[in-house]
Amino acid sequence: MRPISRFMVCLVLLGPSLTQAASTIEGQKIYDRNCAMCHGVQGISVMASAPNFKYGQGLFKSDFSLVDRIKKGKNACPAFIGILREQQIYDVIAYLRTLYP
Ligand code: HEC
Repeated sequence: MRPISRFMVCLVLLGPSLTQAASTIEGQKIYDRNCAMCHGVQGISVMASAPNFKYGQGLFKSDFSLVDRIKKGKNACPAFIGILREQQIYDVIAYLRTLYP
């Protein structure tokens, strides 16, 4: 491998994930206000069709796809674009990542 490609590989491996600078404390507040009525407190779903985050349902995807999904919504899951700011979406994802083992 040429040194330059080795350098690029390091950049990718060490590159921060989208939610690294996000706050799980803020994320929990946002979650409790906007998501818990369907996804349940601490991710224990209270709506039959809503994924149970406690089991990681709906979360086995990249932060990037989650941001997109939360912005656009899906079926009964409302779109949060214009409701949550970009940073709030990162915070809520950081919190979602704490819900399952
Ligand atoms: C009105 C109820 C409701 C609210 C409020 C709600 N959701 Fe959902 N959510 C759902 C339902 C229902 C689904 C399943 C959608 C489907 O796959 O048909 C879902 C799916 C999801 C998924 C999985 C999407 C996928 O790719 O399969 C994520 C992630 C998610 N919601 C995040 C959130 C977040 C974060 C919030 C708050 C900011 C939120 N939801 C608020 C009902 C809700």
